[in-house]
Amino acid sequence: MIFFCGRYGLIIFLILFLSHKSNSSNDSLFPASYPTENDVPPTDDLDYRHHNYKEMRQVINEECPNITRIYNIGKSSQGLKMYAMEISDNPGEHETGEPEFRYTAGLHGNEVMGRELLLLLMQFLCKEYNDDNPRVRRLVESVRIHLVPSLNPDAYELAYEMVYSLFSTHEGYDIFQNFPDLNSILWGAEDRGWVPRIVPNHHIPIPENVAVETKAIISWMERTPFVLGANLQGGEKLVTYPFDMQRPLIQRQNEGALRETADENLFRWLAVTYAHSHLTMTENQRGSCHTDDVTGGQGIINRASWKPVVGSM
Ligand SMILES: *[C@@H]1O[C@H](CO)[C@@H](O)[C@H](O)[C@H]1NC(C)=O
Ligand SMILES: *[C@@H]1O[C@H](CO)[C@@H](O)[C@H](O)[C@H]1NC(C)=O
Repeated sequence: MIFFCGRYGLIIFLILFLSHKSNSSNDSLFPASYPTENDVPPTDDLDYRHHNYKEMRQVINEECPNITRIYNIGKSSQGLKMYAMEISDNPGEHETGEPEFRYTAGLHGNEVMGRELLLLLMQFLCKEYNDDNPRVRRLVESVRIHLVPSLNPDAYELAYEMVYSLFSTHEGYDIFQNFPDLNSILWGAEDRGWVPRIVPNHHIPIPENVAVETKAIISWMERTPFVLGANLQGGEKLVTYPFDMQRPLIQRQNEGALRETADENLFRWLAVTYAHSHLTMTENQRGSCHTDDVTGGQGIINRASWKPVVGSM
Protein backbone atom coordinates (compact mmCIF):
# COMPACT_ATOMS: atom_id res chain seq x y z
CA MET A 1 0.00 0.00 0.00
CA ILE A 2 1.34 3.38 -0.92
CA PHE A 3 0.45 6.84 0.18
CA PHE A 4 1.29 9.88 -1.79
CA CYS A 5 1.59 13.24 -0.23
CA GLY A 6 3.19 16.48 -1.20
CA ARG A 7 2.62 19.12 -3.79
CA TYR A 8 3.38 18.07 -7.32
CA GLY A 9 4.93 15.29 -9.26
CA LEU A 10 7.67 15.88 -11.74
CA ILE A 11 9.09 12.51 -11.04
CA ILE A 12 6.64 9.89 -11.97
CA PHE A 13 9.34 7.78 -13.58
CA LEU A 14 10.73 6.86 -10.23
CA ILE A 15 7.44 5.41 -9.21
CA LEU A 16 7.27 3.41 -12.40
CA PHE A 17 10.75 2.19 -11.76
CA LEU A 18 9.97 0.73 -8.43
CA SER A 19 7.22 -1.42 -9.76
CA HIS A 20 9.16 -2.40 -12.84
CA LYS A 21 12.13 -3.29 -10.79
CA SER A 22 10.12 -5.45 -8.51
CA ASN A 23 8.88 -7.47 -11.43
CA SER A 24 11.83 -7.73 -13.74
CA SER A 25 15.03 -9.63 -13.71
CA ASN A 26 16.85 -8.59 -16.78
CA ASP A 27 19.25 -5.82 -16.13
CA SER A 28 19.43 -4.87 -19.79
CA LEU A 29 15.71 -4.23 -19.79
CA PHE A 30 15.72 -0.46 -19.80
CA PRO A 31 18.44 1.03 -21.98
CA ALA A 32 17.16 0.71 -25.54
CA SER A 33 13.43 0.99 -25.10
CA TYR A 34 11.17 1.12 -22.10
CA PRO A 35 8.86 -1.84 -21.74
CA THR A 36 5.16 -1.36 -21.55
CA GLU A 37 3.43 -3.15 -18.72
CA ASN A 38 2.97 -6.25 -20.85
CA ASP A 39 6.61 -6.58 -21.83
CA VAL A 40 7.83 -7.30 -18.34
CA PRO A 41 9.12 -10.87 -18.08
CA PRO A 42 7.05 -12.99 -15.73
CA THR A 43 9.98 -14.39 -13.77
CA ASP A 44 13.10 -12.95 -12.30
CA ASP A 45 16.25 -13.98 -10.54
CA LEU A 46 16.51 -11.20 -7.99
CA ASP A 47 17.73 -12.05 -4.55
CA TYR A 48 14.49 -11.85 -2.57
CA ARG A 49 15.98 -12.23 0.86
CA HIS A 50 14.92 -10.49 4.01
CA HIS A 51 17.47 -8.14 5.48
CA ASN A 52 17.56 -7.46 9.18
CA TYR A 53 19.10 -4.27 10.54
CA LYS A 54 22.72 -5.40 10.21
CA GLU A 55 22.23 -6.87 6.76
CA MET A 56 20.34 -3.78 5.64
CA ARG A 57 23.29 -1.61 6.68
CA GLN A 58 25.54 -3.78 4.53
CA VAL A 59 23.33 -3.29 1.49
CA ILE A 60 23.25 0.46 1.99
CA ASN A 61 26.89 0.86 1.11
CA GLU A 62 28.96 3.26 -0.85
CA GLU A 63 29.05 1.47 -4.16
CA CYS A 64 28.30 4.66 -6.03
CA PRO A 65 30.06 7.20 -3.84
CA ASN A 66 29.82 10.06 -6.30
CA ILE A 67 26.02 9.94 -6.52
CA THR A 68 25.03 8.72 -3.06
CA ARG A 69 25.14 9.87 0.52
CA ILE A 70 24.18 7.78 3.53
CA TYR A 71 22.74 9.64 6.46
CA ASN A 72 20.24 8.94 9.17
CA ILE A 73 17.11 10.87 9.94
CA GLY A 74 17.28 10.06 13.64
CA LYS A 75 17.31 7.14 16.03
CA SER A 76 14.61 4.77 17.20
CA SER A 77 13.77 4.58 20.88
CA GLN A 78 16.14 1.59 21.14
CA GLY A 79 18.93 3.55 19.51
CA LEU A 80 18.87 2.04 16.00
CA LYS A 81 19.56 4.47 13.19
CA MET A 82 16.84 5.31 10.71
CA TYR A 83 19.02 5.14 7.63
CA ALA A 84 18.43 7.15 4.50
CA MET A 85 20.22 6.98 1.20
CA GLU A 86 20.24 10.07 -0.92
CA ILE A 87 20.79 9.65 -4.65
CA SER A 88 21.67 12.74 -6.64
CA ASP A 89 24.39 14.05 -8.93
CA ASN A 90 25.34 16.43 -6.12
CA PRO A 91 24.66 14.43 -2.95
CA GLY A 92 24.31 16.48 0.18
CA GLU A 93 23.12 19.60 -1.59
CA HIS A 94 19.74 21.03 -2.37
CA GLU A 95 19.94 22.40 -5.89
CA THR A 96 17.68 25.23 -6.88
CA GLY A 97 14.87 24.05 -9.11
CA GLU A 98 15.59 20.38 -8.49
CA PRO A 99 12.68 18.57 -6.83
CA GLU A 100 13.25 16.44 -3.73
CA PHE A 101 11.46 13.10 -3.61
CA ARG A 102 11.20 10.52 -0.87
CA TYR A 103 10.27 6.88 -0.71
CA THR A 104 9.79 5.54 2.80
CA ALA A 105 8.91 2.10 4.16
CA GLY A 106 8.77 0.08 7.32
CA LEU A 107 6.41 2.07 9.54
CA HIS A 108 5.13 -1.25 10.83
CA GLY A 109 7.72 -3.78 11.88
CA ASN A 110 5.89 -6.76 10.45
CA GLU A 111 5.29 -5.26 6.98
CA VAL A 112 8.54 -6.15 5.37
CA MET A 113 8.03 -5.85 1.63
CA GLY A 114 8.64 -2.11 1.37
CA ARG A 115 12.07 -2.34 2.95
CA GLU A 116 13.17 -4.96 0.42
CA LEU A 117 11.78 -2.98 -2.52
CA LEU A 118 13.70 0.12 -1.48
CA LEU A 119 16.92 -1.83 -0.95
CA LEU A 120 16.51 -3.23 -4.47
CA LEU A 121 15.77 0.21 -5.85
CA MET A 122 18.97 1.58 -4.31
CA GLN A 123 21.04 -1.14 -5.93
CA PHE A 124 19.23 -0.77 -9.21
CA LEU A 125 19.70 3.00 -9.48
CA CYS A 126 23.36 2.70 -8.61
CA LYS A 127 24.07 -0.09 -11.05
CA GLU A 128 22.09 1.41 -13.91
CA TYR A 129 23.71 4.79 -13.38
CA ASN A 130 27.13 3.21 -13.63
CA ASP A 131 26.00 1.30 -16.74
CA ASP A 132 24.92 4.57 -18.36
CA ASN A 133 21.22 3.87 -18.50
CA PRO A 134 19.98 7.20 -19.93
CA ARG A 135 16.73 7.15 -18.02
CA VAL A 136 18.44 6.57 -14.69
CA ARG A 137 21.08 9.18 -15.52
CA ARG A 138 18.32 11.69 -16.19
CA LEU A 139 16.60 10.86 -12.89
CA VAL A 140 19.78 11.14 -10.87
CA GLU A 141 20.70 14.42 -12.54
CA SER A 142 17.30 16.08 -12.28
CA VAL A 143 15.86 14.81 -8.98
CA ARG A 144 17.22 14.54 -5.46
CA ILE A 145 15.97 11.14 -4.33
CA HIS A 146 15.81 10.02 -0.69
CA LEU A 147 15.14 6.38 0.18
CA VAL A 148 14.38 5.30 3.75
CA PRO A 149 13.80 1.54 3.96
CA SER A 150 13.01 1.32 7.67
CA LEU A 151 11.17 4.00 9.63
CA ASN A 152 10.59 1.69 12.59
CA PRO A 153 13.73 -0.48 12.89
CA ASP A 154 13.01 -1.60 16.47
CA ALA A 155 9.74 -3.23 15.50
CA TYR A 156 11.26 -4.94 12.48
CA GLU A 157 13.95 -6.52 14.64
CA LEU A 158 11.34 -7.78 17.09
CA ALA A 159 9.04 -9.11 14.39
CA TYR A 160 12.04 -10.71 12.65
CA GLU A 161 13.01 -12.64 15.75
CA MET A 162 9.64 -13.42 17.22
CA VAL A 163 7.63 -14.57 14.21
CA TYR A 164 4.28 -13.22 15.33
CA SER A 165 2.92 -9.88 14.21
CA LEU A 166 4.37 -6.76 15.72
CA PHE A 167 4.03 -3.36 14.25
CA SER A 168 4.25 -0.69 16.93
CA THR A 169 7.37 1.04 18.20
CA HIS A 170 9.23 -0.06 21.29
CA GLU A 171 7.29 2.55 23.24
CA GLY A 172 4.00 1.16 21.90
CA TYR A 173 3.15 3.81 19.31
CA ASP A 174 1.67 2.97 15.93
CA ILE A 175 3.65 5.43 13.84
CA PHE A 176 1.14 5.10 11.01
CA GLN A 177 -1.39 7.01 13.11
CA ASN A 178 0.97 8.95 15.31
CA PHE A 179 1.30 12.15 13.29
CA PRO A 180 -0.46 15.18 14.73
CA ASP A 181 -3.82 15.82 13.11
CA LEU A 182 -3.26 19.28 11.68
CA ASN A 183 -6.12 18.85 9.19
CA SER A 184 -8.82 19.11 11.84
CA ILE A 185 -7.26 22.25 13.29
CA LEU A 186 -7.11 23.91 9.88
CA TRP A 187 -10.50 22.69 8.67
CA GLY A 188 -12.17 23.76 11.92
CA ALA A 189 -10.64 27.21 11.59
CA GLU A 190 -11.68 27.42 7.93
CA ASP A 191 -15.25 26.55 8.79
CA ARG A 192 -15.27 29.44 11.25
CA GLY A 193 -13.82 31.84 8.71
CA TRP A 194 -10.61 32.23 10.77
CA VAL A 195 -8.16 31.45 7.98
CA PRO A 196 -5.80 33.15 7.32
CA ARG A 197 -6.31 36.11 9.66
CA ILE A 198 -6.67 34.32 12.99
CA VAL A 199 -5.21 30.92 12.11
CA PRO A 200 -2.46 30.94 9.48
CA ASN A 201 -2.62 28.24 6.83
CA HIS A 202 1.11 27.81 6.48
CA HIS A 203 2.26 26.96 9.97
CA ILE A 204 0.60 25.10 12.80
CA PRO A 205 2.80 24.23 15.78
CA ILE A 206 3.39 20.50 16.12
CA PRO A 207 2.32 18.87 19.39
CA GLU A 208 5.06 17.16 21.39
CA ASN A 209 3.43 13.91 22.48
CA VAL A 210 4.52 11.65 19.64
CA ALA A 211 6.96 8.74 19.29
CA VAL A 212 10.67 9.55 18.94
CA GLU A 213 10.55 8.02 15.46
CA THR A 214 7.62 10.25 14.48
CA LYS A 215 9.49 13.28 15.80
CA ALA A 216 12.52 12.34 13.73
CA ILE A 217 10.41 11.92 10.59
CA ILE A 218 8.69 15.27 11.11
CA SER A 219 11.92 17.17 11.59
CA TRP A 220 13.44 15.42 8.56
CA MET A 221 10.47 16.63 6.51
CA GLU A 222 10.89 20.14 7.89
CA ARG A 223 14.58 20.20 6.99
CA THR A 224 14.13 18.89 3.46
CA PRO A 225 11.86 20.63 0.95
CA PHE A 226 10.15 17.50 -0.42
CA VAL A 227 7.66 18.04 -3.21
CA LEU A 228 6.45 14.46 -3.38
CA GLY A 229 6.75 11.22 -1.51
CA ALA A 230 5.31 7.76 -1.31
CA ASN A 231 5.25 5.32 1.57
CA LEU A 232 5.15 1.56 1.19
CA GLN A 233 3.15 -0.58 3.57
CA GLY A 234 2.05 -4.19 3.65
CA GLY A 235 -1.30 -5.93 3.73
CA GLU A 236 -3.05 -4.74 0.59
CA LYS A 237 -2.13 -4.51 -3.05
CA LEU A 238 -3.31 -1.07 -4.04
CA VAL A 239 -2.31 2.57 -4.18
CA THR A 240 -4.07 5.03 -1.92
CA TYR A 241 -3.95 8.77 -2.31
CA PRO A 242 -4.92 11.63 0.01
CA PHE A 243 -6.80 12.79 1.89
CA ASP A 244 -6.40 9.96 4.35
CA MET A 245 -9.05 11.36 6.68
CA GLN A 246 -12.42 12.72 5.85
CA ARG A 247 -13.35 16.33 6.37
CA PRO A 248 -16.45 16.67 8.57
CA LEU A 249 -19.57 17.63 6.68
CA ILE A 250 -20.54 21.19 7.54
CA GLN A 251 -22.96 22.95 5.23
CA ARG A 252 -21.38 21.42 2.21
CA GLN A 253 -23.21 19.84 -0.68
CA ASN A 254 -20.60 17.68 -2.31
CA GLU A 255 -19.45 14.87 -0.04
CA GLY A 256 -16.90 13.62 -2.55
CA ALA A 257 -15.13 16.96 -2.47
CA LEU A 258 -14.58 16.53 1.26
CA ARG A 259 -12.08 13.79 0.55
CA GLU A 260 -10.23 15.53 -2.23
CA THR A 261 -7.08 17.56 -1.95
CA ALA A 262 -6.52 20.52 -4.23
CA ASP A 263 -4.20 18.19 -6.18
CA GLU A 264 -6.81 15.48 -6.68
CA ASN A 265 -6.20 15.07 -10.42
CA LEU A 266 -2.48 14.86 -10.04
CA PHE A 267 -2.67 12.31 -7.24
CA ARG A 268 -5.08 10.17 -9.21
CA TRP A 269 -2.79 10.29 -12.22
CA LEU A 270 0.24 9.27 -10.16
CA ALA A 271 -1.70 6.46 -8.50
CA VAL A 272 -3.11 5.17 -11.79
CA THR A 273 0.31 5.27 -13.40
CA TYR A 274 1.79 3.23 -10.59
CA ALA A 275 -1.03 0.70 -10.48
CA HIS A 276 -1.07 0.16 -14.24
CA SER A 277 2.69 -0.28 -14.39
CA HIS A 278 2.45 -3.04 -11.83
CA LEU A 279 2.02 -6.55 -13.15
CA THR A 280 -1.04 -7.53 -11.14
CA MET A 281 -2.31 -4.51 -9.22
CA THR A 282 -5.18 -3.91 -11.60
CA GLU A 283 -6.40 -7.49 -11.61
CA ASN A 284 -9.77 -8.05 -9.99
CA GLN A 285 -8.58 -11.17 -8.24
CA ARG A 286 -6.81 -9.84 -5.17
CA GLY A 287 -5.45 -12.99 -3.59
CA SER A 288 -6.43 -15.09 -0.65
CA CYS A 289 -6.32 -12.49 2.16
CA HIS A 290 -8.62 -9.99 0.57
CA THR A 291 -11.48 -11.12 -1.58
CA ASP A 292 -13.19 -7.82 -2.33
CA ASP A 293 -11.66 -5.52 -4.86
CA VAL A 294 -12.37 -2.15 -3.32
CA THR A 295 -10.72 -0.41 -6.27
CA GLY A 296 -13.06 -1.56 -9.03
CA GLY A 297 -10.19 -3.10 -10.96
CA GLN A 298 -8.23 0.16 -11.00
CA GLY A 299 -5.81 -0.65 -8.20
CA ILE A 300 -6.23 2.80 -6.67
CA ILE A 301 -8.46 4.36 -4.06
CA ASN A 302 -8.86 7.53 -2.09
CA ARG A 303 -7.94 6.59 1.44
CA ALA A 304 -10.61 8.75 3.09
CA SER A 305 -13.39 7.01 1.22
CA TRP A 306 -11.95 3.54 1.83
CA LYS A 307 -10.65 3.43 5.40
CA PRO A 308 -10.33 6.93 6.79
CA VAL A 309 -7.44 7.28 9.18
CA VAL A 310 -6.42 10.19 11.40
CA GLY A 311 -2.80 11.04 12.07
CA SER A 312 -1.20 9.33 9.07
CA MET A 313 2.07 10.49 7.59
C1 LIG B 1 18.53 -9.99 -20.96
O1 LIG B 1 17.82 -9.84 -22.16
C2 LIG B 1 18.65 -9.86 -23.31
C3 LIG B 1 17.78 -9.50 -24.52
O2 LIG B 1 16.55 -10.20 -24.48
C4 LIG B 1 19.34 -11.23 -23.41
O3 LIG B 1 20.18 -11.26 -24.55
C5 LIG B 1 20.15 -11.48 -22.16
O4 LIG B 1 20.70 -12.77 -22.17
C6 LIG B 1 19.26 -11.32 -20.93
N1 LIG B 1 20.08 -11.39 -19.73
C7 LIG B 1 19.74 -12.08 -18.67
C8 LIG B 1 20.66 -12.01 -17.51
O5 LIG B 1 18.71 -12.74 -18.61
C1 LIG C 1 30.28 9.37 -11.19
O1 LIG C 1 31.22 8.41 -11.61
C2 LIG C 1 30.86 7.76 -12.82
C3 LIG C 1 31.86 6.64 -13.06
O2 LIG C 1 33.17 7.10 -12.90
C4 LIG C 1 30.81 8.80 -13.94
O3 LIG C 1 30.42 8.18 -15.14
C5 LIG C 1 29.78 9.87 -13.58
O4 LIG C 1 29.75 10.88 -14.54
C6 LIG C 1 30.09 10.48 -12.22
N1 LIG C 1 28.96 11.33 -11.88
C7 LIG C 1 29.08 12.46 -11.21
C8 LIG C 1 27.81 13.19 -10.93
O5 LIG C 1 30.14 12.91 -10.83
